[in-house]
Amino acid sequence: MPSTRATTDRSAVRTLLRLWPYVRPVRARLLAAAFVAVVASCTGLVIPLVLKWLVDGPVADRDPAGVWLGALYLLLLGLAEALLFGLRRRLVARPLSHVEAEMRADLYRRLQRLPVAFHDRWASGQLLSRATTDLMLLRMFLAFPLTFLLVNGVTIVVGVVIMLVQDWVLGLVILGPAVPVLWTCVVFERRYAQVARRAQDQVGDLTTVVEESVLGIRVIKGFGRHRSQARAFRDLTGRLRGTELHKARLLATIWAVIVTLPEVAIGAALVLGTVRVADGELSAGTLVAFLSTALALRWPVDSIGFLLAMSQEAATATERYFEVRDEVPEEQAAGNGDARPRTGGVPGLRFEDVSFRYPDAPPGSPPLLSHVDLHIRPGESMALVGATGSGKTTLTALVPRLHEVTSGRITLDGVDITAMSREELRIKVAVAFEEPTLFSASVGENVLMGAPDGAGRPELDRALAIAQADFAHRLPQGTDTRVGEQGLSLSGGQRQRLALARAVVGRPGFLVLDDPLSALDVHTEAAVEAALRRVLADTTALIVAHRPSTVLLADRVALLSGGRIAAVGTHQELLRDNAEYAHLMSGEQEDSR
Ligand SMILES: Nc1ncnc2c1ncn2[C@@H]1O[C@H](COP(=O)(O)OP(=O)(O)OP(=O)(O)O)[C@@H](O)[C@H]1O
Ligand SMILES: [Mg+2]
Repeated sequence: MPSTRATTDRSAVRTLLRLWPYVRPVRARLLAAAFVAVVASCTGLVIPLVLKWLVDGPVADRDPAGVWLGALYLLLLGLAEALLFGLRRRLVARPLSHVEAEMRADLYRRLQRLPVAFHDRWASGQLLSRATTDLMLLRMFLAFPLTFLLVNGVTIVVGVVIMLVQDWVLGLVILGPAVPVLWTCVVFERRYAQVARRAQDQVGDLTTVVEESVLGIRVIKGFGRHRSQARAFRDLTGRLRGTELHKARLLATIWAVIVTLPEVAIGAALVLGTVRVADGELSAGTLVAFLSTALALRWPVDSIGFLLAMSQEAATATERYFEVRDEVPEEQAAGNGDARPRTGGVPGLRFEDVSFRYPDAPPGSPPLLSHVDLHIRPGESMALVGATGSGKTTLTALVPRLHEVTSGRITLDGVDITAMSREELRIKVAVAFEEPTLFSASVGENVLMGAPDGAGRPELDRALAIAQADFAHRLPQGTDTRVGEQGLSLSGGQRQRLALARAVVGRPGFLVLDDPLSALDVHTEAAVEAALRRVLADTTALIVAHRPSTVLLADRVALLSGGRIAAVGTHQELLRDNAEYAHLMSGEQEDSR
């Protein structure tokens, strides 16, 4: 889980300023919209002045024509205000959805390029909620509070000036609550920031639970765990509900202060004003104008509470967004340090004194792999055997640089893998993992993912043939059948064969297979092996194997034990000379029946 949670003291303004690069391209539109809104809002403030003229002029003089004219002015002013606010909305809608889309695309790009270690560390729901809820909050902020904090601020200042000019005594009465209201806003801001952060983190946790239980629905049903799962979910929603209620209570408090105090002030001004009109110190028109200005300012003042709340939520969303955006992507990640291209080195795949420990391993624990030395000659296939949990998958993940070695180096034909670009490395090395992942796309697209751009039908057919995945041709729409989460469900063995086809389709120079045949029945396994043997003949391969039948595909076997390569030799040699290996192989034989 990210450690950056619940930052207590941060400036909302400074955080929000980080949005500038995204807002920059639409700044002209946004400014124009704000200007239009200020004009619209100030048009509203002219209405009380027309009222004053109406009351003190035509109404006092009993002049019907003047009254009609005044009514027409009022109508036109109201219309202008409405039209201008409509224009503002039109101005911002399109550019702001553009900003949101841009930020989302940026986040997605970053997620793709972040190292595997990052994804190990972050719960998927936290990432999901940042890409959805938080970005929506940001768009809403740019569309509404950002403009209206400015517009309402200007309106309040202009309105107060108008009132002071009308009558400064009444003006001061109205201004009375300003200090307590401001103080409440400041206190509120600070409290609300913390609660908003908590709420948004909890939404992330909730998303993770939903996602896990959807992906793991078979396990949940198979073990009858839906009750405990539902309980866990209810606990989380309960907690989120508590946080949301806390937010609501804070909002209610500020709302009470912001609405009540000005209302009291308006009441006091009304009483005082009436007395002064009766005494003849003030014209009735001025009192009307004054009070209608005060009433026109009610919405700008009342709205400050939730505008501030929305801004706080937006600041939190920005913070959460940039926690991911600020992560260092692979290209600049550690590991590029002492990389110098070397040529003329040893051909083949070579591990030189490689040590590795997971970045999130408990401090002080010994490295998972230490001083691994292994040389796979060009064209050779090496099987990697070891007890479960010995680090085989980890070792294979180091070759395509899914994780970076802690020390030592890995070379391909003598070139340090950190000296080549990731693109180059990943074209040279093809992988098939223990859990074959298929994407929501057609069979053909899934397999051709492993090939350079431009590969087509012939490559696809060849790869399917090698992986004994001809069943793909017999699917409802052949190789155009959609598989993956949004498509047809395939069996474990079928998926494994497609993953294998994906690994071989690009004719890679180096092939890394993590237990590629584990889910196949004996007959299919034999057929895949026969085909694989042909592929392995002209690539350099590292194959994690559990069963003797897979081991027999390889020219030599390496035994991984206690974090290092304990023995290297042919299957027969190791069976004869190495007790641990003999034990592993016999155990596996019993297992695989
Ligand atoms: N992302 C990770 N972060 C921290 N530790 C990990 C991570 N992945 C694996 N480990 C730990 O590393 C050790 C080796 O795991 P690995 O998957 O390499 O074993 P393996 O030899 O492939 O086992 P198996 O034969 O069961 O597939 C395990 O103890 C595991 O807990
Ligand atoms: Mg493994």
